[in-house]
Formats: sequence, C-alpha cells, structure tokens
Amino acid sequence: MTVIGFYGSSQMDGWRTKLGRHLDNFTLVDLMSPEGARADIALVWAPPKGQLAKMPNLRGIIMQGQGVDYMMSDPTVPRDIPLVRLVDPDMSNALSHWAILAALDFWRDAPYYRDCQVVAKWAPIVQRPATGAKVGIMGVGAIGSVMASRFASLDFDVRGWARTMRQVDNVAVFAGEDNLPAFLDGLNILISVLPLTPATHGILNSQLFHQLAKGAYIINGGRGAQLVEADLLDAIASGQIAGAALDVFATEPLPADHAFWSHPKITIWPHVAAQTNPNTAAIQVAAAIRAIMAGVEPENRVDWGRGY
Ligand code: GLV
Repeated sequence: MTVIGFYGSSQMDGWRTKLGRHLDNFTLVDLMSPEGARADIALVWAPPKGQLAKMPNLRGIIMQGQGVDYMMSDPTVPRDIPLVRLVDPDMSNALSHWAILAALDFWRDAPYYRDCQVVAKWAPIVQRPATGAKVGIMGVGAIGSVMASRFASLDFDVRGWARTMRQVDNVAVFAGEDNLPAFLDGLNILISVLPLTPATHGILNSQLFHQLAKGAYIINGGRGAQLVEADLLDAIASGQIAGAALDVFATEPLPADHAFWSHPKITIWPHVAAQTNPNTAAIQVAAAIRAIMAGVEPENRVDWGRGY
C-alpha cells in the first residue's frame, strides 16, 4: 500500500477520486497527520518549510503545479529522492490560450476599442498587420514549445529562447545568454514562461525592454520575480513598452495599494493562466508514483543544479 501525503490548496478528496482512476493500492492522507508523516510519496504545493525533511519513509516528492521555485527556496527539502514537476498537456494548453488571448488583445487594439465603447465612440484606427508580428517566447520547454507552435500557426513570426538548443517546428530557437540579444532584437510581443532560477531573476528589466521594438508588449506567465516592476512602469511611461499582461507577481496576492492595479496599460490576472486540473494531472501524477515505487526514474524529475 503506497501512502501518499497530501498538502496544498486544491481539494484532497478530489485528488483521491481522480488518482483512483489511474492508480491501485494507495491511501491519500493529510501530510501533516501522523499517518501523513510516514508517507512514501508527498504530493504537494508549498508545504511548510522543513516538513519534508522530517519524513523517514519518503521516496519521492511530486508537485501539484509546474513551478518548483518554492522547493528550491527550502534548503531542507531532501535532494537524494526524486522531485517531480507537473507537466500536464492540459496546463500547457491553458497557458498557451492565455498568452494568445493577451497577445491578440494587444495586437488588435482591444483596450482602445473597449475605451471607445464606454463613450459610444465609433472610431476605427489602422489595423496592425495580421501576419508577421514578431513574438518571442522565453522558455521553450515543455510549456513554451506548445505555445510557440500555437503562435506560429497564427502566422506570427515566432522566436523561442531556451537555456540549451532545441527544435520547435516553425520557430526560430535561440539558445543561451549569448544569443539573448539576437532573440530580443525588434520583438513586438515578449512572453515569459521561464522557471524562476537565479539566472532568470530580474531578467525582464529596463535593459531588456530597450532591445525590443518600440511599443512592444510584455506578457509574464512565468514568475513575478523575473520582472523588475519599477523598470516596467518606467518603460511604459516612456512609450518603449506599450503595456503588459501579468499573471504572476513578486508578491502574491498583489497588494491592494500596488501601482499595477490601477495602471491603464497593465492587465492583472490573479495567477490563473494555467490552473492545475486534477482530472488530467492525475494521469501524470499516477505515472510518477508508479515509477518511484518501482525504483524507476520518473519523467520530469527536477534537476536541482539546473533549478527546474
Ligand atoms: C503555477 O504557476 C504552477 O507553477 O503550476
């Protein structure tokens, strides 16, 4: 019997039912209960710091979400057992849809027309070209490569940036720090779905904004700490950046008095671009549990050195 210790904000009962469709012979209990403390597997989102280190039987940690920056910030999390990040096609789909929604909203001047509607003003402006906008996606891994292909199918001119070289159909991929300037050069829309690592902290800053086309748009679906917030406000004020759609913030929930809330050029989403869907995620979680319990390397194991 595999004991799974559960910690997170989603519904434990829902996960139990959904995992039961893909996994035999398990019990799912609260990680903080006495039985949970003896769990073989931790299925978690942001457990209390130090908790996982206290579990003598733990054989693997499985995330209920995609990012593992929270785990990286807890030095006590055991590193000799697999830490598995959630890679769920449904979430890659959701994040792609969200980025396309934000990009098209900007590219088709939807904010302008919404403002016109408020004052019943019929005032067409010249449409931007339907093909050829330069869209750059930072982080063309499991999620970003799906997104990049979707943007390419809309006839955008799509670039991707990744730590190491990879192939994505119809997407020009640039790899590594050295190729960042070539990737950024003249982009109209920049999207980050990067994981948060020391290398990506503060990467969306004034210096980067100035390498994009004037009036470019920023979409952040990665992590809030990647964006230097004051630099974004300055770049919007100067006209270098036209605006931004943000799903992630340095501080979440975004404080009520934060300047972003009332900024007419910034669209706020409360970290909902890709919510975990236990219906589909249970398939990947069950596969990871089976692998770990069989002593086999699970898919999507986090590389601690790489940071994701
Ligand atoms: C959400 O941001 C996640 O990491 O799943």
